[in-house]
Amino acid sequence: MSGNATRPEPTGPAAVLCGLGGALPARAVSNDELAAQLDTSDAWIRSRTGIGQRHVIAPGQATSDLAVEAGARALASARDTAGPAAAEVDLLVLATSTPDRPCPATAPVVAQRLGLGTVPAFDVAAVCTGFVYALATAGSLIEAGVARRALVIGADTFSTILDPADRTTRALFGDGAGAVVLRAGTRDEPGALLGYDLGSDGQGVDLITVRAGGSRQRSEPGPPPEADRWFTMRGSSVFREAVLSMSDSARALAERTGWDPAGPDKLVAHQANVRILRAVGDQLGLDEKQIVVHLDRVGNTVAASIPLALTDAAGEGALQPGHRVLLTGFGGGLTWGSAALVWPDVVTGPPGTV
Ligand code: COA
Repeated sequence: MSGNATRPEPTGPAAVLCGLGGALPARAVSNDELAAQLDTSDAWIRSRTGIGQRHVIAPGQATSDLAVEAGARALASARDTAGPAAAEVDLLVLATSTPDRPCPATAPVVAQRLGLGTVPAFDVAAVCTGFVYALATAGSLIEAGVARRALVIGADTFSTILDPADRTTRALFGDGAGAVVLRAGTRDEPGALLGYDLGSDGQGVDLITVRAGGSRQRSEPGPPPEADRWFTMRGSSVFREAVLSMSDSARALAERTGWDPAGPDKLVAHQANVRILRAVGDQLGLDEKQIVVHLDRVGNTVAASIPLALTDAAGEGALQPGHRVLLTGFGGGLTWGSAALVWPDVVTGPPGTV
């Protein structure tokens, strides 16, 4: 399936990436620590997923705490990269599926804590595709002239919705936040978002879900069954859909951008499972050096996964100015999406600790 929301040939401003940063909770949970609580092992988790550890928030922390730290780091990065005005954003878009509260959205409180005044701020919920959806939304508002500079954050705390007894999901997911700053510029500048590909298929609603807590369950009499409070996933179906959707979407966008699908210098795909990353790479004809891998240290951080991987790869020099970069994600909904850009010269540091 390839996505069907595409960007027309632009005539006005482009959205240019000029800052990025991340945040992780202080506490890292190793595979061995999980194996002491659940019927699993370091060897199983590493060989089936590539994950070595994940970070988990402390009691009392929430998604906004991570989002604020990542956002502050991205704003500092934009200041260092493009000067003080670059950090004067007039829009905040927060991708999350674990908001601080079911109502209202988390973005306004993040904007307030970051001292952004009364800028428009809203949440986007597309689970692991959330960051790509938020990037396309903010980028399009800049291209339309509605905003000049935008902070785009992906933040999730899936540890708050995982069944403590579920070895499958607890092995995979970690908490985190990543953020980028976009500014109005021109399409020929490094950092300009060159195109988007977005799609969804609601037939897959049950593959990745939390059944309780929304209007469907709350309008029913009586409390929900205990199991419905937790996140569930049909692992092998999700695996298959993730490979197909990300490779189709990335290929479609590469072709529309005028790139050979096997040609990007780096593929920064949603970090769910290293075997998914390799399979997407195989579908596109990429070799391992072209594929950014960050999940070994953080697991699947949902909406934070792509911006955290970008921050890590830029900080370590794996992403170099001039690299052609394809971003691609897949998540609950089902949803999927991709974006393309030539990597800019951007100053960034390691993720902050919360
Ligand atoms: N430790 C040990 N065994 C585990 C385990 C763990 N942490 N997690 C799952 N298993 C078991 C299952 O219970 C199942 O056991 P059963 O056959 O007795 O029922 C078995 O492993 C499944 O084995 P297999 O089919 O070989 O696993 P897999 O290679 O499909 O890997 C996932 C399972 C969940 C890691 C894999 O399907 C996956 O990564 N799916 C995508 C998940 C994802 O990324 N979701 C988010 C996308 S946005």
